[in-house]
Amino acid sequence: MSHEQLPTEQPAVVTCGLPYANGNLHVGHLRSYVAGDLFSRALRRVGQQTAFVCGSDMHGTPVAVNAAEEGVEPREFALEYHEQYKERFPQFNVEFDNYGHTDDETNTELTQEFVQSWIENDHIHEKEIQVAYDPDADQWLPDRYVEGTCPYCGEKARGDECDEGCQRHLEPGEVEDPTSTLTGNPAEYRTREHKFLRLSDFQEYLQGFLDRLEGTERAQSQPREWIEGELEDLCITRDMDWGIDYPGDDQKDLVLYVWVDAPIEYVSSTKQYTDNVGADVFDWEQAWKIDGEQAHGTHWDDEWSGTSGEIIHLIGPDIIQHHCVFWPAMLRGAGYNEPRAVLATGFVGIDGKSLSTSRGRAVWASEYLDEGFHPDLFRYYTATGSGLENDVDFSWDRFQQRVNGELVGNLGNFCYRGLLFAQRNYDGTPDADPSEEVTERIEDAIETFEMAVAEYDVRTLGQVAVDLADFGNEYIQQNEPWNLVDDEPEEAAQVIRDCVQLAKACALLMQPVMPEKAEDLWAQLGEDGSVHDPELSAALETPPAEFDEPDELFTQVEDETIEALNEKLRERVSESADDGDDDDEEDEVDLPALEADRISFEQFQDIDIRVGEITAAEPIDGADELVRLEVDIGLEQRQVVAGLKQLHDTDDLPGTRVVLLANMEQAELFGYESNGMVLAAGEEADLLTTHEDAALGTKIR
Ligand code: 2FM
Ligand code: ZN
Repeated sequence: MSHEQLPTEQPAVVTCGLPYANGNLHVGHLRSYVAGDLFSRALRRVGQQTAFVCGSDMHGTPVAVNAAEEGVEPREFALEYHEQYKERFPQFNVEFDNYGHTDDETNTELTQEFVQSWIENDHIHEKEIQVAYDPDADQWLPDRYVEGTCPYCGEKARGDECDEGCQRHLEPGEVEDPTSTLTGNPAEYRTREHKFLRLSDFQEYLQGFLDRLEGTERAQSQPREWIEGELEDLCITRDMDWGIDYPGDDQKDLVLYVWVDAPIEYVSSTKQYTDNVGADVFDWEQAWKIDGEQAHGTHWDDEWSGTSGEIIHLIGPDIIQHHCVFWPAMLRGAGYNEPRAVLATGFVGIDGKSLSTSRGRAVWASEYLDEGFHPDLFRYYTATGSGLENDVDFSWDRFQQRVNGELVGNLGNFCYRGLLFAQRNYDGTPDADPSEEVTERIEDAIETFEMAVAEYDVRTLGQVAVDLADFGNEYIQQNEPWNLVDDEPEEAAQVIRDCVQLAKACALLMQPVMPEKAEDLWAQLGEDGSVHDPELSAALETPPAEFDEPDELFTQVEDETIEALNEKLRERVSESADDGDDDDEEDEVDLPALEADRISFEQFQDIDIRVGEITAAEPIDGADELVRLEVDIGLEQRQVVAGLKQLHDTDDLPGTRVVLLANMEQAELFGYESNGMVLAAGEEADLLTTHEDAALGTKIR
């Protein structure tokens, strides 16, 4: 990568985390694919040569376990979902330049080449380790075949990930009190020989890499704690049949760990894109490879002097370690370029609880489409509801509110009335110059867009056209062209010329987030060609002199539709809670193990906890547990969303003294910004308070 601000002269590759080909896609999955698509379109819009690639993750136990449950061979099972995803993404206007899969020939060959390079560069060694084994099933228990307790945080964990706790990757043998998911019996640990990538070879390199890495805050900061102390080796083989074979003849019965061949698909998919379009259109090697000494040196400077492409990964919040520690080491060990940026989204929940495919607590992608909603509405809703990194709740009510308010009432309304007035009075764009005020406002919007690309600010990229339309509505309202058209024809022509110009700018600026709607608006403006092609500066070029009567761009989402969807979701959520398999339903208090890692006094001082008092509380419609609170913390009033509804009477809450984590990052829940966290104990949300009369705002020390 170049270290210059985006856009650069180098080719860029934008990727999205590969979905495991093992189940239906839901709105939580779609969040990062929409963000990736939006960002890659925006990058192209500012002139960066960009490939947007992805593929299905076919291997590993996430696929093998589900396939076995269905009684189908993993390949057949995974291919079916792969085909489904390939169709599904374009239905949400997520248009990859290449969508491959990890089991195809390109990826199999390239994965083996990577491993071969690590062997040649002496980064691989063999070690005897303890691997979980089920004596009844007479089977090794890799990854999801074993469950137990996370040795780091004490939460329930799967074999290779602490998915309900600290999100750490776990090495084989690490999970405590292992049980087999095949039989439910306690598993045994048995000795077995496996291959390891020596991550400690990359320790120094990774320090420098993390200093250079751009992207979302958590992706940059969280990995630092994981590379403190000597890095543990990464076991890259598994006792399974399903996967890519370890190259060579010495380990015939081992396949590569799924996290080896999965990220390599980012490279393979780019290579396939080049194979399709030709290296003159996009050269995968220029993007991914680094040359000679840089590639194979053993010492790395903090400064990166390579000239390869800009690699930008969009991922979910649970796979930061894989992308910011393992993957850069894997690339480096094989002489490949490093990621420039990792953008990790926040989690998506429903009603304050995480989405769960297995418990059916989800809104499915197919369900959204079956309702007849346009994909661009979902894209706008999911990309702009909150900053990319924040956790959010999916809410049909909020979806309706934002579509009706921001898209129908604002953007759609402005474009429709501006273009209608222009068409009826002037047959199209009136012959007048745009005003300085409007020209400057469009220039500002372009600058905001360009800055948002440079800062990976997906939310602003999605929002900028709606903000411009907001200005347009005020402008038209203030200038009342309908009152000028007879008496002040020149002024009227100029105001309407401004409106058409603003509509044209909206079309170009909204294209990354709502590509199909932008194309509709472009056509309504009578523009030739596609809205996807011109540079952003075209927003200031004169629109066509003639166009037809416009149509409304968006239609209202009706109350009855939302009520029916809410009802369906409520039933599904309550069924998922009733299935007896929900942690929230447990009666016994199950105390988690004490945190093994200590924090320093300085770290504690970074936590800003204050005495507060609830001054207002109201339940949030449609959310089972959430209440909106106003909390007075002496220095200011804070709005906080808290899960208290089922456990406290909302009317009793005002006047309650509470303890508030004041520097908790902001989040959006059910469409409400939550600006702090009220501290409470356990599932019953027993609110923390003070014994005496410490003044509001007093810091807890
Ligand atoms: O966690 C997952 O869903 C994985 N399938 C993501 C893989 S991303 C990439 F690195 F391969
Ligand atoms: Zn953990």
